[in-house]
Amino acid sequence: MNSSIPIADSIRESLSLISITPASIALYTVLAAALPLVYTFAITTLNDGKPTKDGEPPVPPYWIPFVGHAFSLMGSLDKLHNGYRKADGRLGRPRTLLAFGQKIYLITNPSSILLMWRKGKTVVFEPMLAYVMKNLFDGTDSCIKVLSVGQPGVDQTGLEGQIEWAKIMHKWYIQELNPGTLGLESMTNVFIRETNMELEKHTGKEFQQVDLFAWIKKIMFVSSGRALYGYKLRFDDELACNFWKWDSGFLELNKLYPDFMIPGVRAARSKVLDEFTRWYLEVKDSAGKIDDDVIWEETFGARLIRNRFKLNAQVLAADDHKAHASIHLSLFWGLEANAIPATSWMIAYILFTPGVYEKLKTELAPCLRAPVEGTSLPTFDVDMLIKLPYLNATWQEALRLGVSSLSPRIVLEDTEIDGYMYKKGGMIQGLSPLVQLEEEYWGKDAHEYKPERWLPYPGEDPAVSTKRIREFQSKLRPFGGGTTVCPGRHFAAQEIQAMVAVLVMAFEWDTAGGKVPEINRDFFGAGGLPAKGDVTVKLRRL
Ligand code: HEM
Ligand SMILES: *[C@@H]1O[C@H](CO)[C@@H](O)[C@H](O)[C@H]1NC(C)=O
Repeated sequence: MNSSIPIADSIRESLSLISITPASIALYTVLAAALPLVYTFAITTLNDGKPTKDGEPPVPPYWIPFVGHAFSLMGSLDKLHNGYRKADGRLGRPRTLLAFGQKIYLITNPSSILLMWRKGKTVVFEPMLAYVMKNLFDGTDSCIKVLSVGQPGVDQTGLEGQIEWAKIMHKWYIQELNPGTLGLESMTNVFIRETNMELEKHTGKEFQQVDLFAWIKKIMFVSSGRALYGYKLRFDDELACNFWKWDSGFLELNKLYPDFMIPGVRAARSKVLDEFTRWYLEVKDSAGKIDDDVIWEETFGARLIRNRFKLNAQVLAADDHKAHASIHLSLFWGLEANAIPATSWMIAYILFTPGVYEKLKTELAPCLRAPVEGTSLPTFDVDMLIKLPYLNATWQEALRLGVSSLSPRIVLEDTEIDGYMYKKGGMIQGLSPLVQLEEEYWGKDAHEYKPERWLPYPGEDPAVSTKRIREFQSKLRPFGGGTTVCPGRHFAAQEIQAMVAVLVMAFEWDTAGGKVPEINRDFFGAGGLPAKGDVTVKLRRL
């Protein structure tokens, strides 16, 4: 590629025409300082759209050598990525960004993202684990060490022969959280019971006014927390308040913002950790006293948590309190931070999209079951519930609009995906959040909530609708993919649909004057998206 030379020459020529006066010297100085930037921009503009000499995806133009696209990456990711949505006028072409010598590959083609997940031997998440644990979850070095044993792409010096914590946990996630397991069944049942208890406390026969998103957070933080962690962790307002304060700074923590730019975020996280430490000290002597075949009990909640607790005791010093606390935070965050916003969007869209609430009421009626002791709110046949086609459609559509999940990966060995090379050491981001909102895939109404798109249209040829819906499915991947695909996705589906079911069947809603709040897409890639503001509604027990 030598077409850069004439450009440089022409800049030099035009500069040589400037006569030497004090004013022009000043101008000349400015231009001289700018020259390398102009030069970089010119070259990178000319190369735009072409694969690199190593066959990597094209590099978009940038101004400053070495710094590359770093500043764009620090800003709004939603804007940045939307800029690459249709590179070269064509959809779904990958891109290579550069930031301080680090390569970041962006993949926007849904089938290339699937392929990336399938290359799980050479394109992996694990090298990012230490960064994530340290910066998002305040993980101690001892905790990071434990999580690193046996992980691909992570330096194993000094870790040889130690217990492979992550592999053991992975096996337990599948054993306790997959469909058909006793673990999943009991967690969902506890979730339903605890939700009904909380609703019983917070609602009555008279209409009351609530801020919908804040209200769902309040109920569900407790009930989903208890479904996994039992009764000893204190799910009070203080823990909730600190948790959400910490969560609100998640993207900034990831970008290593200093405290003064995100005041109180790290302090709130410390307080969450303090509660986990208090909990650890309270329950630690009970772990060995509970039979292995107990699926759920009040001290540790789910067996998954109890097993995790016991495994931690094997690999961490008993007095390394902070390590014990922080090793729980990532799971706890995954549990609370994504499912609750997803539920809020689902309910909001159901309440404010004409006709949806009524249709759900009819569909849900046969799944109603008697209340559990201590409450008068109904329960549901969960197996029936999660097979309801319309409820499922309202759930898929809430995920599509209200969830934005990135799949960051590191390339361990040069890997080819769909004709492009991804070089060792580079980072890949699968941009599923763009795919799930792309007008060319979903239609002009891509940003509208339309559950019908997940079902056969009236009069549509069955073969056509099957194919159409299958295409849609391949373009919605809110739970990631490959070996680190979200292990909690089945629990999320069950708890969220059960929550929606009770709110639809057992309450009367007055939504007059309200509307679904705007989705805050600045949180691009952060999982369940927050709302800009909230919406006030009235509800009462039926
Ligand atoms: C709507 C709700 C949820 C969404 C959108 C979501 C999304 C995700 C995503 C995108 C990943 C990373 C996948 C990848 O690397 O490609 C993930 C991982 C994970 N999620 Fe979820 N999640 C949700 C609910 C839950 C729940 C309820 C739990 C707990 C029961 C959970 C536990 C986890 C854990 C432990 C991981 C890490 C898995 C590993 O590293 O092997 N998630 N989740
Ligand atoms: C819900 O809909 C999605 C998308 O069409 C589909 O992949 C999934 O199998 C459905 N789930 C059930 C239980 O029908």
